[in-house]
Amino acid sequence: MGGMEFNKVFAAILVAGIVAMLSGFVAEKLSHPHKLKENAFPIEGVEVAGGGKIEKLAEPILAMLATADLERGQKLSKACAACHSFDKGGANGVGPNLYNIVGAQKQSHAGYKYSGALNAQGINEWNYVALNKFLWKPKKYAPGTKMSYAGLKKPEDRAAMVAWLRTLADSPKALPGALEIAAEQAELAPPSAEQEELEDAIETVKEGVQDAKADAEIKQLENDVEKTKADIETKKAIKKQTMEDAKKTVKDALEKSKDTH
Ligand code: HEC
Repeated sequence: MGGMEFNKVFAAILVAGIVAMLSGFVAEKLSHPHKLKENAFPIEGVEVAGGGKIEKLAEPILAMLATADLERGQKLSKACAACHSFDKGGANGVGPNLYNIVGAQKQSHAGYKYSGALNAQGINEWNYVALNKFLWKPKKYAPGTKMSYAGLKKPEDRAAMVAWLRTLADSPKALPGALEIAAEQAELAPPSAEQEELEDAIETVKEGVQDAKADAEIKQLENDVEKTKADIETKKAIKKQTMEDAKKTVKDALEKSKDTH
């Protein structure tokens, strides 16, 4: 192998080593994307990374509706009666008449002037989920609403209220099915402490494994580079030795030919 060619090979090996090292570095960066400080799309009540406080949500009530205490609902309606009538064709007061409210379009009762704030939540129907959230904290659910009422704090009270409201209709709306109940639970039930701990633990282990993998890969690449370097040194030494041997042989041959002449 000529000197020039040897240098080329050496350079090629060096470049290959550097590329391998760089790709390890890039892989490391890719497998450890930096985490967002907040959810890109904040979800109400979901903890933000970095230890934000869990916001309280209305407790789910759909599962309670089928067996809710209707009498209790009727009793609770006395707190609403200052502003609402509940009978069919009843007059609007401070608030609109509430006959047939479950499943009705929001802000649709004839002859009542609404604030417009009730429609701001995306859903335009008083379904069970919307009623639960609204009756929990009206002003939180619909900022700007005209309804000056603090809300029903206890989930059993809201379940009783909504179950009773449901009966105020010519044909009451169907009770929620299993899917609706599950969806509401998924949306509103706070994650249990154990669940959160478990998820944290899994996350930590995952990160540890990734780190270990990346470290091992880098170590391997470093070893490869060291080995290549050592090979090159050996080859250089052999080459040097061979050159010296050859020189010596030539020299010896020259001496010999001098002697014989
Ligand atoms: C102090 C008066 C007041 C009290 C008490 C009150 N409300 Fe209201 N309610 C209103 C007003 C005013 C509105 C119209 C809100 C708006 O337009 O922003 C309203 C709207 C509503 C709506 C929406 C109606 C629609 O057609 O979209 C529902 C449902 C409702 N109230 C239920 C209740 C229930 C159930 C209670 C009792 C637990 C209650 N409210 C207590 C004043 C009251």
